[in-house]
Amino acid sequence: MEYSKVITIICLIFVGDSRGQAADFQTFPDGFLIGAASASYQIEGAWNVSGKGESVWDYAFHNMLKQVSDDSNGDIACDSYHKYKEDVQWIRDIGFDHYRLSLSWPRILPNGSKDRVNLDGIRYYRNLLEELKAANVTTVVSLYHWDHPEVLEEIGGWTNEVMVERFEDYAKVVFDNLGYLVDIFVTINEPEMLCFDEPVNSSEATARGLANDVASYLCVHNALKAHAKVWHMYDENYRATQGGIIGLLPVCRGWVSGDGVTEESIERYFQFGCGLVLHPIYKGDYSEIVKTTLADIDVYRNRSFSSLPVFTDEWVKMIKGTNDYFGLNHYTSRIPVMEYGARTSDSGVLEIRDKSWPITVLDRLEVVPEGFGNLLRKIRDEYDNPPVYILENGFADSGEILDYGRINYHYDYLSELLTAIIHDGCNVKAYTIWSLLDNFEWDRGYSISFGIVKVDFTSPNRTRSEKLSTRWWKEVIRTRTLIKPPAPGSTSSWGGCFECDLTNDKS
Ligand code: NOJ
Repeated sequence: MEYSKVITIICLIFVGDSRGQAADFQTFPDGFLIGAASASYQIEGAWNVSGKGESVWDYAFHNMLKQVSDDSNGDIACDSYHKYKEDVQWIRDIGFDHYRLSLSWPRILPNGSKDRVNLDGIRYYRNLLEELKAANVTTVVSLYHWDHPEVLEEIGGWTNEVMVERFEDYAKVVFDNLGYLVDIFVTINEPEMLCFDEPVNSSEATARGLANDVASYLCVHNALKAHAKVWHMYDENYRATQGGIIGLLPVCRGWVSGDGVTEESIERYFQFGCGLVLHPIYKGDYSEIVKTTLADIDVYRNRSFSSLPVFTDEWVKMIKGTNDYFGLNHYTSRIPVMEYGARTSDSGVLEIRDKSWPITVLDRLEVVPEGFGNLLRKIRDEYDNPPVYILENGFADSGEILDYGRINYHYDYLSELLTAIIHDGCNVKAYTIWSLLDNFEWDRGYSISFGIVKVDFTSPNRTRSEKLSTRWWKEVIRTRTLIKPPAPGSTSSWGGCFECDLTNDKS
């Protein structure tokens, strides 16, 4: 046999079908970070404790402006404000490299102004971050995960450019008081959800909802300005002494091919999705495809003004280059197909869901791992292979303790991720589970669960307990290997009974 053929056969045996299932692909690269995430309103509770101001969510729920499917709210949530030491103990026991948390803006600036800093709020976060540092956990801190002070909502929230200045004031207080304890800062979580969420009562990210598309584009515009200003502030005044990194955190859906999918439909889908905020950061200004399409729509709607605000040259320069890393939240995918005839979307693309995809209890989040790989390769090509930190990826169920669905989801998405790194050269540095704990899932309250640790919301103590996924993750992290999920009822490959003393009856 020719020498080259022998080599080819050996290579094929080694890499399997060359897309991710070979044994060699199952080990995480050296230095790869595995962690878990949370957000202030979803876990802290203590909504009016120790000088905290009212957040936009507190106000909306207490005044019946927003409905939640189980009529709950985040007043107590997981009570992590009081139980943070226990949370850190779980993080330590599972073995996570990093933990992502968010700061409650009104816990630090109760009335949204830097004139009154709530020292108890600062103290709480300092204690939490010190506890994490003592456990040798890398700290990832989101400045903003959708819970701004209600007083700022009353002047228009993110549709008012004043938010840019208020966000800078707030960030400065955080950098001055807590920055030395933070390794990775996120400025704004999922600006797309924040600004383009569904109408108010079915919305996730906004307590009040936004009036229309004009308000949505204004919101994105101001969020980008706020992000850029804060990035520069950190870069110029804090980076040298604090040594962290800072970036925006978009949510990107992936895509898979199907009937009617073209290069153009994928491009439009991407640029009107997370590309809307990423293009200004990586390439400067909104993309041409977004600008020209929206200009056409404005003409069609007889608008005498541009629904997409225009950045001055100075702002284009100010925003470009303001990501130290590419933060990414990702859950699901769609099949993007060009819309012909009556137009229902700004992008001109229909986002189709395949009925054969496995569903989750959160019906917008079907399980489509293949789309994740496509997305990672697009990020590599579009933005010059930046270091990518996956800061959210997770599975919603009804709170089962034997959560095989969750383990399978993480396994399938991580298989795609390892293929993208090892086979396709994508520069992915970290993976973060949403979420450490079951928590308050916005419009779905406590009726669905994302946690790999169970929280009993009926107990005043908000007791935490193990799920099957807790055990699987411990083993994955201990071995730095993507372990195949054991079949229900089976014995685990790493010895002993996987399910022992866990049953769904407890849930
Ligand atoms: C993204 C958000 O950042 C988080 O708050 C939410 O709970 C998850 N998606 C799941 O919906």
